[in-house]
Amino acid sequence: MLDALLEVSVVASFSRLGPVIRRRLFRWEDPDWSHLTGRVAVVTGATSGLGREIAMDFARAGARVVLVARDPSRAQRVRDEIAAACSNSEISVVIADLGDLESVRHAANELNALGSVNVLVHNAGALTRDFTKTTQGLESTTAVHLIGPFLLTRLIEPVLVAGQARVIWVTSGGMYSQPLDLDWLAAPQSPYNGVTAYAKVKRAQVALLEHWAPEMVAHGITMTAMHPGWTDTPGLQRSLPAFRRFLRPLLRTLAQGVDTVNWLATAPIASTPPGTLWLDRRVRSMHRLKRTRDSDTPARRERLWRYCELRAGLAAQGPV
Ligand SMILES: NC(=O)c1ccc[n+]([C@@H]2O[C@H](COP(=O)([O-])OP(=O)(O)OC[C@H]3O[C@@H](n4cnc5c(N)ncnc54)[C@H](OP(=O)(O)O)[C@@H]3O)[C@@H](O)[C@H]2O)c1
Repeated sequence: MLDALLEVSVVASFSRLGPVIRRRLFRWEDPDWSHLTGRVAVVTGATSGLGREIAMDFARAGARVVLVARDPSRAQRVRDEIAAACSNSEISVVIADLGDLESVRHAANELNALGSVNVLVHNAGALTRDFTKTTQGLESTTAVHLIGPFLLTRLIEPVLVAGQARVIWVTSGGMYSQPLDLDWLAAPQSPYNGVTAYAKVKRAQVALLEHWAPEMVAHGITMTAMHPGWTDTPGLQRSLPAFRRFLRPLLRTLAQGVDTVNWLATAPIASTPPGTLWLDRRVRSMHRLKRTRDSDTPARRERLWRYCELRAGLAAQGPV
């Protein structure tokens, strides 16, 4: 009951109050880190904020962590920091710009050479104010959060199957404000609003998850999503400075922000049903508004799938 009340109030749920209260309410215990020991865990966007924290936690648990990052020198620095802090030398780097499909293809080749992947966290992302296009001509937010991770997952499916992997998408509560809008994805409208774009693409992420997860189950892959609430990261500081200044005392710490990723990566598999969205170790609704729920139909998800295949270059060109 108290959790339901918290969930209704966005501020209490998304801020640090959420995990503080729920930790006591549900008597949270530490994740069972032994599930990760010796396992291969791939984390995208591991050079900063939530991704770096997740990689650090996985490394501390004794996982063989692969940091997927776009900047080689930053990646190497973070790799060395994590290896030293966690006394774990099994940390490696794969370079990929998730917005560049060629780069994603190279990274997928390297990841396939691992033979088996047990955890994949799709965390890389950014809220960019201005409209930009990638090398392949895609709108950047869509490319980085949706098409790049989609392509990466499809290309490394053999190693995900081999590892009976858990695939965890880090999405955002911002998606609650936006319907599934395929017309926008196909042709982002001007004037461009980076916050709206981000929320629309995060909505598409969870719609894709719901469409895709049942198929992945048949291959032994468990795909879920979580949103981290409002967490004080360099990304948040950069993209929403006024929001951060205003809410700073209420923002989650990194540990609070990543807790549910750690939990999803380590909890008994039967307790993390595929295709579900999580916050603070509990399944949450995909929708808070009727208009977004109405937009999210099986037919539109089917179209979204086709859109992703086309944009990722996995299907012949044609209408979406
Ligand atoms: N912080 C929050 O309150 C919050 C709330 C909801 C959702 N999220 C989500 O959480 C995830 C992590 O965000 P954060 O707050 O931790 O931000 P952050 O501190 O800026 O970290 C983002 C990470 O993603 C990487 N990245 C960005 N664009 C990339 C690209 N094109 N290719 C490869 N890597 C890329 C960054 O690499 P560089 O170091 O090279 O920039 C960085 O490692 C994002 O998906 C974000 O949407 C965050």
